[in-house]
Amino acid sequence: MAEIGIDIAKARQLLQSDELVAIPTETVYGLAANALSEDAIVKVYTAKNRPKFDPLIAHVDSLEKVKALTKNIPQKAKDLASQFWPGPLTILLDKKPNVPDLLTSGLNRVAVRIPNHPLTLELLSQLDFPLAAPSANPFGYVSPTTAKHVDDQLGAKITYILDGGKCNVGLESTIVGFEGDDAIVYRLGGTKVEAIEQAIGAVKVNVNMSSNPAAPGMLKSHYSPGRKMVIGDIADNLSKLNKATTGIISFRDSFDVPEANLSILSASGDLEEAARNIFSSLRLMDQKHIEVVLAEYVPKEGLGRAINDRLKRAAAED
Ligand code: TXA
Ligand code: MG
Repeated sequence: MAEIGIDIAKARQLLQSDELVAIPTETVYGLAANALSEDAIVKVYTAKNRPKFDPLIAHVDSLEKVKALTKNIPQKAKDLASQFWPGPLTILLDKKPNVPDLLTSGLNRVAVRIPNHPLTLELLSQLDFPLAAPSANPFGYVSPTTAKHVDDQLGAKITYILDGGKCNVGLESTIVGFEGDDAIVYRLGGTKVEAIEQAIGAVKVNVNMSSNPAAPGMLKSHYSPGRKMVIGDIADNLSKLNKATTGIISFRDSFDVPEANLSILSASGDLEEAARNIFSSLRLMDQKHIEVVLAEYVPKEGLGRAINDRLKRAAAED
């Protein structure tokens, strides 16, 4: 098990020695390492068991640090940065040569983000390098939203987890890039598409559901709990199943199954609360006695689009 605490100096020293540290962000916990050190980056891929064709996001605490890594920043990217950073938005920008190819899986663009968490912003301000930080979960599994989630799965592979409490967005960042003048959303996440469109006009949403080497995090079966999952009318599906071994993730309604099997995302129907709870709900379903998980889509607006995306991937079978 890893040590869990709030010692920023300790986190800094480990990172300066090319070691891994799990860090809190407002979206999910990240598995951080020096993004300019190939030795450190390799440790991230290894600890997560992640294929090296799946690139990592560089996290910094200022626009100046973004500019040290990137070039040709489009005006729309500047507008997004000024409106949404620090916050749950990742922007793909042309990389400068100092950014290791290992970080970007050989792609010409690097993903950058200024996260919004006080501990991590303080840590970043004390470092003279960016932090590569994928979600701190084994590849293909649900992202962690508490320090304990990280410890449960990666505790044996890291020495320190910086504990920033429960993540208050609960979904990974929205990823935006540019093709010519067009802004493209490659991953739905913690920044609403509607808010992005208000800032820079219409965007295309291209969240590929198949294996896609250009943005492999969009793999179809991602975020999966270890259980078969069926999305649809919960009451209807439940009537055909054994209640004792069925888990339920509902948006706001209660169902007649053992209490331990039921996870209501938001009894008041609040999509932001549902977003905060979705990943811990998926984790909860990973219990021995549950055989099938029944879930339902939430309203397709705001964070609901990203929640539905994660549900769909969690239910995908390959
Ligand atoms: O909210 C988040 O973004 C969290 C926290 C820790 O910041 N991080 C996160 O990282 O979700 P990760 O590695 O789990 O997901 C990053 C996604 C992957 O799908 C990856 O394929 C994509 O970003 N990505 C990274 N760099 C890219 C690049 N240069 N071009 C295209 N996609 C990229
Ligand atoms: Mg991830």
